[in-house]
Amino acid sequence: MAGTKTFFIIKPGAVSHEYIGPILAKINANGFHIAALKLIQLDRYHAEHFYAVHHEKPFFESLVTFMTSGPVVVGILEKENAVADYRKLMGATDPAKAEEGTIRKLFAENIERNAVHGSDSDENAEIECNFFFSKSERYSKFED
Ligand code: CMP
Repeated sequence: MAGTKTFFIIKPGAVSHEYIGPILAKINANGFHIAALKLIQLDRYHAEHFYAVHHEKPFFESLVTFMTSGPVVVGILEKENAVADYRKLMGATDPAKAEEGTIRKLFAENIERNAVHGSDSDENAEIECNFFFSKSERYSKFED
């Protein structure tokens, strides 16, 4: 059975353009419960660890520089089938390929400055949620 939570980031470009409100409104309008939320400045250590899976990619250095260039919003979203449904709402990684009405189509600048991140599996959702939030920082509708 698919899990009920996913982890998301509103990236520096979208935060600096004052898109936090519009993006959260879209998330709520699509039936997600916001179980945790905070505005933080990522440091290099956390950005490198968070994106460690992309360490060998040519864009890794640039991605880490971008993700530490200003504040980000991190949070936990809850809903049945959360990972897949939020990935559909985000749209394709490259906003040029994203469907109309998706968050990336509406708010992203390019494939790197692509407005938002979302977990790609239930397993990674668990890891990413735990990377940023303790259990006491969550208001869950699904878990104790
Ligand atoms: P995200 O969903 O946060 O996961 C990894 C990120 O790497 C991705 O969004 C993009 O911001 C970035 N990324 C993925 N592919 C490329 C690419 N080809 N060029 C630049 N950045 C990329």
